[in-house]
Amino acid sequence: MKIAFGCDHGGFPAKEEVINFLIQKGYEVLDAGTFSDASCDYPEYAVKVCNAVLDGSCDKGVLICGTGIGMSIAANKINGIRCAHVTDLFSAEMTRRHNDTNVIALGARITSVETIIKCIDIFLTTEFDGGRHQTRVDKVMEIEKNN
Ligand code: RB5
Repeated sequence: MKIAFGCDHGGFPAKEEVINFLIQKGYEVLDAGTFSDASCDYPEYAVKVCNAVLDGSCDKGVLICGTGIGMSIAANKINGIRCAHVTDLFSAEMTRRHNDTNVIALGARITSVETIIKCIDIFLTTEFDGGRHQTRVDKVMEIEKNN
């Protein structure tokens, strides 16, 4: 499984540990940046990561900024992306089981790197439940199609 990773300067402090975790777990990683703690614009990294998921070169996306909010807003503007802003382990599980999200957004200024890593681990290993949740996801995607 290949994971697209992107962060801005707000997420940069968590980057090394997160990427090391992913590699140690056996995932391939596409590192879309940022590559330093210099101030930068999170939408650029959200687009790179989401495009890698949409073109099939990566299976899932991980985005980290200061709060995770800007990254999730940017990612959810892109057709085909369902991005969850996650701060806790329960949400990390449920967003895969119920929303079939393909990208997770986290905030390094609000969530510890340990929790960020646990959330990513759960997100990447939890399957979609399907069934009635597929009907609801289809309705969400219908909104995207019509707007
Ligand atoms: C950058 O200062 C900060 O605004 C960004 O990392 C993120 O938290 C935005 O939502």
